[in-house]
Amino acid sequence: MPITGIYGPDDLTNRPHGQALKQGTSEVITSPRAVPVPGPALPMPSLEWTDDVERATAPLYERVKHVIPPIEWPLMAPTIHAINELKRERGAVILAHNYQAPEIFHCVADIGGDSLQLAVEATKVKAGIIVQCGVHFMAETSKLLNPEKTVLIPDSRAGCSLAASITGADVRLLREKFPGVPVVAYVNTSAEVKAEVDICCTSSNAVQVVESLNAPTVIFLPDRYLATYVASKTDVKIIAWKGACEVHERFKGEELRAYREADPSVQIIAHPECPPDVLAEADFTGSTAHMINWVRNKRPRRLVMITECSMADNVRAELPDVEMLRPCNLCPHMKRITLANILQSLLTRGEEVTIDPALAMRARRSVERMINLKN
Ligand code: 13P
Ligand code: SF4
Repeated sequence: MPITGIYGPDDLTNRPHGQALKQGTSEVITSPRAVPVPGPALPMPSLEWTDDVERATAPLYERVKHVIPPIEWPLMAPTIHAINELKRERGAVILAHNYQAPEIFHCVADIGGDSLQLAVEATKVKAGIIVQCGVHFMAETSKLLNPEKTVLIPDSRAGCSLAASITGADVRLLREKFPGVPVVAYVNTSAEVKAEVDICCTSSNAVQVVESLNAPTVIFLPDRYLATYVASKTDVKIIAWKGACEVHERFKGEELRAYREADPSVQIIAHPECPPDVLAEADFTGSTAHMINWVRNKRPRRLVMITECSMADNVRAELPDVEMLRPCNLCPHMKRITLANILQSLLTRGEEVTIDPALAMRARRSVERMINLKN
C-alpha cells in the first residue's frame, strides 16, 4: 500500500528555527566524531615500485586485472603493499563496504560486505583495531558492536545524505506526534538517532523488521524511497521521513527503459533506495549483498546495476564474463576513503571513532535487537 504520511524537518513545528538539515551534507555532528589519537606515529614506509613490491603484490593484481589497467598498478601497488604490512604490524583488520574502490575492496580489505555484515563480522575478529573503509555511520555501527576495540575511519568527513537528514531531536518530535507508534531506523543513521528508536534495519531485512513489531502502523526513517518499497511489500501502515540517498535518487526510470529498448535481453537490478519509477523497471531489487548474490547465481550476460558505481567494478573483478552497462553514480562520501588515507590512518591511528557510552548503550540496543531477530 502507499505510505500513510511523510514528514520532514519543516513539518515538525517544535523543531528549533534554523535547524533544518540540508541533505547531501555530512555536517551534522550527532555524537563525538572521529578524533586523532595522540601518540607517536610510525615513520612513512618507502612507496617505491620495486621488484619486491611487484612480486609481493602480483597475486593481488590477479584479482583486479579486469578493472585496473596495468599502467595504473605501479602507482597503487607500493601503497597497497605498505598497508598490508602495517596491518600485520599494528594488529589491525580492514573492513570495506561494497562501494569502496576495487584497489581497496579487493587488495587491502580483510572483510568486505554490506554495512551490517561488516559490523557483525568485526565482532568475530581477534584484532584490536578496526579500520573502517566506508562512511561514518558504518564506523559508528562497528564501534557500537565492538566497544572494546579501537575503530578508525581514514576520513571522518565521509558522511551520508540519509544519516544527515535527521537528528535524535527529530525522532523525539515524531514520537510526540505519533504516540505509541514504534520507530524503525535504517542503519544509515547516526548513533544519536539509533539511540532514540525501537529497532534498526538494513535494506536486506527492512520488511521483516517492520513486521516483527506486530504493530498496525510503524514510523520508518529516514529514507522515503526505502519506506515506499517496504510499504509496497507489507500491510503495515508506514509513516516515512523525507530523507533520500543523494546517489540513488538521481536514477530515472526512463534511463532504464532506454537500456532495455537498446537490448531487450539486458538484466536490470536496483537498490531499494531508488525511487519507485526506477524499481518498477528492475528485474530484481535488493540490498548490496543481495544484488551481488543475485549476479553470482544468475550470471547474466549483460547487466545494468543501479547502485553506486564502484560496486559494479568489484563484481566485474570477480565475474569478468558479466558485461556491465552502467550509469556511473559515485557516492562522494564513500570516495573520501583512499589508499593514501588508509595508510595514514594505520600510521597515526587516526581518526578514532568515539561515542558517548550512555548514548552508545541505547543505540547498541536497537542494532542488537535487529541482529537477534530470528530469520
Ligand atoms: P547496504 O547496507 O545495503 O550495503 O547499503 C548501504 C548504503 O549506503 C547503500 O547506499
Ligand atoms: Fe549514503 Fe547514499 Fe552514499 Fe549510501 S550511497 S553512503 S546511502 S549517500
